[in-house]
Amino acid sequence: MHRFKYIGRSLFCEKVKVSDIAAKVGTPLYVYSRNTLLDHYAKIKEAFASVSPLICFSVKSNSNLSVLRALVKAGAGVDIVSGGELYRAKLAGAPPERVVYAGVGKRRDEIMDAIRYGILFFNVESEEELTLVNACAASLGKKVNVAVRINPDVDVSTHDYIKTGKGQTKFGVNFDTAKRIFRSSWKYRNIAIRGVHIHIGSQILNPQPFRRAIKKVLGFLDKNSLLVEYLNIGGGMGVVYSLEKPQTATGFAGKILPLVRKSNLKLILEPGRFIAANSGILVTMVLFRKKNGQKRFIIVDGAMNDLIRPSLYEAYHEILPVTKPRRRASVARYDIVGPVCETGDFLAKNRKMTEPASGDLLAVMGSGAYGYSMSSNYNSRPRAAEVIVDGNKFFVVKKRETYGDLVRGETIR
Ligand code: LLP
Repeated sequence: MHRFKYIGRSLFCEKVKVSDIAAKVGTPLYVYSRNTLLDHYAKIKEAFASVSPLICFSVKSNSNLSVLRALVKAGAGVDIVSGGELYRAKLAGAPPERVVYAGVGKRRDEIMDAIRYGILFFNVESEEELTLVNACAASLGKKVNVAVRINPDVDVSTHDYIKTGKGQTKFGVNFDTAKRIFRSSWKYRNIAIRGVHIHIGSQILNPQPFRRAIKKVLGFLDKNSLLVEYLNIGGGMGVVYSLEKPQTATGFAGKILPLVRKSNLKLILEPGRFIAANSGILVTMVLFRKKNGQKRFIIVDGAMNDLIRPSLYEAYHEILPVTKPRRRASVARYDIVGPVCETGDFLAKNRKMTEPASGDLLAVMGSGAYGYSMSSNYNSRPRAAEVIVDGNKFFVVKKRETYGDLVRGETIR
């Protein structure tokens, strides 16, 4: 459930008219509903309440400081994958004991920063990384906690680019390597191996692959008599973009909790999309309409640099008028495309809709996760503004970039 709804002909975010925000802030524009973010977080928290898990919001899905702050204030931790995300987590006030750090390529400076901050865990993804974390910890005279990220070789049904738990992906270590790491843990004097971590992919609509992966990992611990305290099952819970029927948080918890309870391990989850996707929209303005041969195009001011999901994963995002037309004007199929000079620059293809007029606003739904956070300056397009709505108020929480921002740090020589 989200809080983008029509009242009369106007799309509202909570109690604010989306067209009012666009009139003040311009387009393209991201709008987030603070209370939807909090609702989604609460849903997971309540579903797993019986084991008091640590829920670490995946910063890569939406790194906006106000989004992070809202969730941290509600009790969430954060899942980070870079020094930049650590920097954001600190600014948002995430307490160190609620920060977990994954990623296959952590640099020394990033590791040092995270140790200094005193994060809960490094989710370590290779033996060489483990050696480096150990050396960094030694140089700071600290002992740090790690969880071993295991690649359980479990396939999931989602886009190939966002499967992360199959044997041939770059993520985690296989069971043999994990065993070697545990067996030689005495070598890493400045490290305590206190957990295991898995993350098998994203936009997964049912709990079965999670169960398979968890069972494999728990079986591995059991078989080798390895003792840890934490089980981190990553993120990946799917959401509705179109006709998907994903598990609910309670349905998901119902299938996962029996395994977790039996293991007696403390549970960590790293949801990103589940919390953020349907908490945000991209608002874009129609510039022109045109017909080439049989194809009809609606050209809007938002593009693949603002929302790359359709281009990169052929992802479907519902597109709604910010103000519904008075009468049913002509309905046809359109490609909704941006100004970027690439054929792959589209927000939707062959989408049946009422023809909008130039100047009309469209809302690209479900854009709160992996929207702004994956945006770029391609074609020297300033990044969009971001607004957060809370009840009947809205706040610009990231200003639209200027042309000056585009060349910041550049010199001519
Ligand atoms: N934990 C780890 C270690 C991850 O790598 C990810 C996402 C998550 C948690 C959060 O996963 P979520 O709950 O959001 O599924 N850009 C793609 C998704 C990439 C996901 C990368 N890892 C997209 O737009 O679909």
